[in-house]
Amino acid sequence: MRKLLFFLIGIVLLGTAACSESKETNQIEDRVESLLSRMTLEEKIGQMNQLNGRNPDEKLMSRIRNGEVGSLLNIEQPELINEIQRIALEESRLGIPLLIARDVIHGYKTIFPIPLGQAASFNPSIVGTGARVAAREATQDGIRWTFAPMMDISRDPRWGRIAESFGEDTYLTTKLSSAMIRGFQGNDLKNPSSMAACAKHFIGYGAVEGGKDYNSTYIPPRQLRNVYLPPFKAAVEEGVATIMTSFNSNDGIPPSGDPWLLTGILRDEWKFDGVVVSDWASVKEMIAHGFAENGKEAALKAVNAGLDMEMVSECYFTNIKDLINEGKVSEKTIDDAVRNILRLKLRLGLFDNPYISEEDPRVAYSKEHLDAAKMAAEESMVLLKNEDQTLPISSVVKTICVVGPLADAPHDQMGTWVFDGEKEKTITPLKALRQLYGDKVNIIYEPTLKYSRDKDRSKFSKTLAAARKSDVVIAFVGEESILSGEAHSLADLNLRGAQLELISALSEAGTPLVTVVMAGRPLTIGTEVELSKSVIYAWHPGTMGGPAIADILFGKTVPSGKLPVTFPKMVGQIPVFYNHNSTGRPARGTEVLIDDIPLEARQSSLGNTSYYLDAGFDPLFHFGYGLSYTSFEYSDLNLSNSSFHPSDTLRVSVQLSNTGDFQGTEIVQLYTADKSASVVRPVKELKGFQRVLVQPGETKDVVFHLPMSELSFWNDGDVVEAGEFSIMVGGNSQEGLFSDFSIIN
Ligand code: NOJ
Repeated sequence: MRKLLFFLIGIVLLGTAACSESKETNQIEDRVESLLSRMTLEEKIGQMNQLNGRNPDEKLMSRIRNGEVGSLLNIEQPELINEIQRIALEESRLGIPLLIARDVIHGYKTIFPIPLGQAASFNPSIVGTGARVAAREATQDGIRWTFAPMMDISRDPRWGRIAESFGEDTYLTTKLSSAMIRGFQGNDLKNPSSMAACAKHFIGYGAVEGGKDYNSTYIPPRQLRNVYLPPFKAAVEEGVATIMTSFNSNDGIPPSGDPWLLTGILRDEWKFDGVVVSDWASVKEMIAHGFAENGKEAALKAVNAGLDMEMVSECYFTNIKDLINEGKVSEKTIDDAVRNILRLKLRLGLFDNPYISEEDPRVAYSKEHLDAAKMAAEESMVLLKNEDQTLPISSVVKTICVVGPLADAPHDQMGTWVFDGEKEKTITPLKALRQLYGDKVNIIYEPTLKYSRDKDRSKFSKTLAAARKSDVVIAFVGEESILSGEAHSLADLNLRGAQLELISALSEAGTPLVTVVMAGRPLTIGTEVELSKSVIYAWHPGTMGGPAIADILFGKTVPSGKLPVTFPKMVGQIPVFYNHNSTGRPARGTEVLIDDIPLEARQSSLGNTSYYLDAGFDPLFHFGYGLSYTSFEYSDLNLSNSSFHPSDTLRVSVQLSNTGDFQGTEIVQLYTADKSASVVRPVKELKGFQRVLVQPGETKDVVFHLPMSELSFWNDGDVVEAGEFSIMVGGNSQEGLFSDFSIIN
């Protein structure tokens, strides 16, 4: 009886919540329509105009008064934002508030690891918390719209923006970007600490030719649907407030002018009712693409495609009125775009609560935020090698020699896309080691190279002398933050300057060498890995990177990160990613055969498979790879059945044992492979992951529930096909326990 009562109360509460939500939605729609009916065409076009707010002058203020601006980006001073907002509200005819935007990518003041680093945590909650922290800090300064998450699938480490991505995998990217959206937007956009998120870049920008930024892509529809679109579809389902179009052209069509994408998929198929914004001048750039003759044609193509707001290039502002008068654009198209923009401003509560309090105590760099950033940095680090259990540093170690250009580089360790984080607040590994462990060990510091591109070898001999008298050497190498990020693509992924020579020299000093790499992308570090006893990939770890690294080095924290992207041995292997399609001659083995080819050998292809003679098939490190200080063993893979209907859910269990001496977290990964289908499918695909904490000697039962609908793919529509599948559960994309099952209709 009590149960029934609770059930009924639950139903009533749910019903009330749904009812008040729909009441609020109706109220918002009524307010949108009432405003729209009072707006002139010029005011509507003004709402579609986003301008750069950096160095605002009287001209900008008067344009705001005239209703010529809907949004500003690149301002962050709270007093200025309040003043500009006051002008919009009190001095423009309709008093429509401005939407203030900024790139808050992986932190505002408290900087978290770069998104690629966060992805190595395989932890949606870490990513969500990072976004929540950033939102709390940024909204206090009046920023209510961020241009994140970037959910471009990135399979080319030459592309500088891989740093901003969650890596090469669609499933992982989908889970993490959805978590980031929830973190930014909170439970209710109206909450003053919520920010509108922006799913970007729509679409395919990560696949630019040769990894050259802003270049072209050629993604056919099936691949687009199966690989590139799913994170965006999930973002729409998550309620993402905005979506940004990308700079590339895909198969000849720039997304900013693509009606199939912006209206067909986004509005008609997915029912997106938020705002579509262009990237910076991407409407005008359709002229340079050769897709529009002039600004007027660019505006025509973009607005008719379904792009609501133009970032900075003002083709809309200059041309839409004429285009309407000429009958090339309908007023309905404009009304729809403005509806989306006003709806967002109302959802954010900007009409009712437009100002920010300048007096509230600031939350930036609060202990809670710094602790969260440290935990994210810890979980982002990937232990790539640990020969002779060199790590953690043993308690008998008396002297450590800290070397390298990234040991004390507070600016660079914050990574790309940081406008507001302050290097004065960043704790470097050197500082942390001294603060946290300086009373236990003697720390000698020899930077040797001033920055990552430094070629000056003059300090080498002094460093080697210090290394020889130390018990362990820790070399911090990598790349400066400015070498990754937008417009910072590279053709050579080796360590720059004299860093490799430094590692080589140190490896000969006879003291165990630990190498910590801080970088915005996978680097080709095969030689450095060979020369070092232990290697940690730390990415650009943010404000709290130093304490996180120090605690990992000394074993207070056990590393748990896994690679969210494949590491190539050499640039010529790119593209190299784990979930490539099956081929007619599947690659086997890791052998490099080039030196075995006899002289004057005649042409023969027999026995050869899809791989490189001079690089073999395997990359340097596989997707999902990462070590721990402890060891794990998998056993007893069990499937709930051997055949399933498309609507069923498969239960998979596996035993995970900690066979080492440390408590550790293992990221258990589940992959499936469709053995034969109506189209060629990937050799395997990630379909689940869990972080599992296991004590030494303990065995845990790890259970996954895999709905068969997760095995669907797009082939002129979403299909779950009957047939044979294999499943693998393990600690990386190559090793694990296998089983088979089938789907029957
Ligand atoms: C260009 C970048 O591609 C985009 O990601 C960013 O949000 C805008 N600039 C605004 O800064």
